[in-house]
Amino acid sequence: MLVAQVNAFGRPEAAIELVEQPDPGEPGAEEVTIDAEFAPINPADLLNLEGKYGAAPPRLPMIPGAEGVGRIAKIGAAVRHVTPGDRVLLPGPGCWRQRFKAPGKAVFALPQGVDPKQLAMLRVNPPTAHLMLHQFVAPELGRWVIQNAANSGVGHCLIRLARLAGVKSVNVVRREGLVAPLRALGGDVVLTDGPDLDARVRAAIGDAALPLAIDAVGGSGTQRLARCVSDGGIVVNYGMLSGEPCMVDGRETVFRDVRLQGFWLRKWFADTPPAQIAALYRDLAARVADGTLAVEVEAVYSIHKIKEAVAHAARGGRSGKILLSFAQQ
Ligand SMILES: NC(=O)c1ccc[n+]([C@@H]2O[C@H](COP(=O)([O-])OP(=O)(O)OC[C@H]3O[C@@H](n4cnc5c(N)ncnc54)[C@H](OP(=O)(O)O)[C@@H]3O)[C@@H](O)[C@H]2O)c1
Repeated sequence: MLVAQVNAFGRPEAAIELVEQPDPGEPGAEEVTIDAEFAPINPADLLNLEGKYGAAPPRLPMIPGAEGVGRIAKIGAAVRHVTPGDRVLLPGPGCWRQRFKAPGKAVFALPQGVDPKQLAMLRVNPPTAHLMLHQFVAPELGRWVIQNAANSGVGHCLIRLARLAGVKSVNVVRREGLVAPLRALGGDVVLTDGPDLDARVRAAIGDAALPLAIDAVGGSGTQRLARCVSDGGIVVNYGMLSGEPCMVDGRETVFRDVRLQGFWLRKWFADTPPAQIAALYRDLAARVADGTLAVEVEAVYSIHKIKEAVAHAARGGRSGKILLSFAQQ
């Protein structure tokens, strides 16, 4: 089977290699084998290829890929809850491979008749958006949330989940051309970033409470959001898209009691009982199935074109995600 592997960190398209590895073999009694279908290339995957993700770089060689979707190929004698043909989330990390062998308890059957490309993007971004929206400030009809990088996968999910919860969203982007598409998606206010962001936000929402900001950018982008939130509000930083450390001015933290806090989905997985995690995925999978959650896809590349795919994913100005397809050729 083909596997995308990193032997040495570097520029994403230079670091990633396609290698042939033995098939994982027959499943044991409590195991399943899975044929991968699709996996997105996320910003965290690109950081991983550069050795810049997390507190310390992973050991090499490393197979990247935080998420994806596939079909059960075979089940062990003791596995009852899934059958061959069922679509399941790939057991990550290490998803950029054609076949898997995994403990049966690591998978659950996804709803049928749903676009597998959308299901491939279920594991990471939808729960991230959901948890940031609901964990830090009690949801309340009519209250506001502001986010930057609003055209990202997380951003699209947040717009749709906020609407579902009756929360209004201010969406900050870095390209004027995204204003109309994000309005059409359900964003209540869409603004381009800039030094006068707080004034334009207030012109748009008046004196409404804005207790929560969601920051994927870091650097001075964090400060621009911090200026927008109400006194006592919180900025939740979950990404480092600018590559800069988060900046927040003392005028916000000292005089207005604005707090900065991080969010990492992997920590939530580690801290949360499995039944609660499963319940959230059941709910979010249903939202994908009914079309509430959907993320644009700009291109799908065969795993054979892994270098072109990661180079494309690393470019700004995309209209959607870049996916890998693992179909046998
Ligand atoms: N902490 C967690 O647990 C967690 C979980 C999921 C995702 N994340 C993070 O969330 C962020 C978004 O991930 P995603 O998968 O949703 O991304 P994505 O769909 O691949 O989209 C990337 C987005 O980032 C924007 N962007 C890139 N560089 C930027 C910059 N310097 N300033 C402002 N915007 C910039 C792009 O804007 P253009 O469209 O203008 O190019 C694009 O909209 C990433 O940083 C990712 O690592 C964190």
